Amino acid sequence: MANALVLKKVSKRFGGLTAVRDVNIDIPHGERRALIGPNGAGKTTLFNLIAGDLPVSTGRIFVFDQEVTNMPPHQRVKLGLRRTYQTSALFNKLTVSQNLYLGVLGPGGGKKHFDIFNIAESDISRMDLVYEVADSVGLSEQLSVKTSDLGHGQRRQLEVGLALAWNPRLIMLDEPAAGLSAEERGVVVSLINKLERSVSVLLIEHDMEVALSIGERVTVLHEGSIIAEGTPSEISSNSLVQQVYLGGHLHV
Ligand SMILES: Nc1ncnc2c1ncn2[C@@H]1O[C@H](COP(=O)(O)OP(=O)(O)O)[C@@H](O)[C@H]1O
Ligand SMILES: [Mg+2]
Repeated sequence: MANALVLKKVSKRFGGLTAVRDVNIDIPHGERRALIGPNGAGKTTLFNLIAGDLPVSTGRIFVFDQEVTNMPPHQRVKLGLRRTYQTSALFNKLTVSQNLYLGVLGPGGGKKHFDIFNIAESDISRMDLVYEVADSVGLSEQLSVKTSDLGHGQRRQLEVGLALAWNPRLIMLDEPAAGLSAEERGVVVSLINKLERSVSVLLIEHDMEVALSIGERVTVLHEGSIIAEGTPSEISSNSLVQQVYLGGHLHV
């Protein structure tokens, strides 16, 4: 499998504002890529385009060498594409295991979630998967905890768990460490670093330390355009990137 993700001259305009401009990205399968940039740089918009939550204005998107530019989100999910949202998208009244159970049901369409016979058939293997995912994100002890009672860091762990449920191949994480304590950040960073190489990772991150400790390569977005791309050490010594940071735009 050559490429997890390829973007060719992808742009997104909102009226007069070009939020994403001619972005080219090439992520080989298995890579951990960090996407950094100031608030308003277009990072979340780019995720929305890749996931299919928003249509591109121009350009083409390929996931695992298949063109997805005009594909609806649920079909992209079937290719193994997963994302987390900057604001939490969990079922608060459900427990951790109930959230994960819905996750492992996969993108079969709304109907399947209410087809009790279909669910019962492979219930046991699905619960095994729930336990496995909970373990991989460090939530085995919290399976019966109501999601609204989880701590900040644990919510992020659960969000990553949901992204991991059901055959993930490329997961996109939108600021998974934002608002966490140093200790909670450490847990999230280590669980991302422990992900199998069969899962490619694209991570939006404000915190430079987190970005550099996860990303093997770093792409820097500024006012919708890519201004630099390279290894963490290349990026931290890049003068244009430093200029943007010193300009006070980048909150890293
Ligand atoms: N749905 C939308 N409609 C109009 N403007 C939007 C929309 N989503 C984002 N924007 C604008 O696009 C720009 C990029 O936003 P965003 O992608 O959220 O940046 P980032 O995630 O890098 O902080 C911002 O100026 C934002 O106001
Ligand atoms: Mg954002």
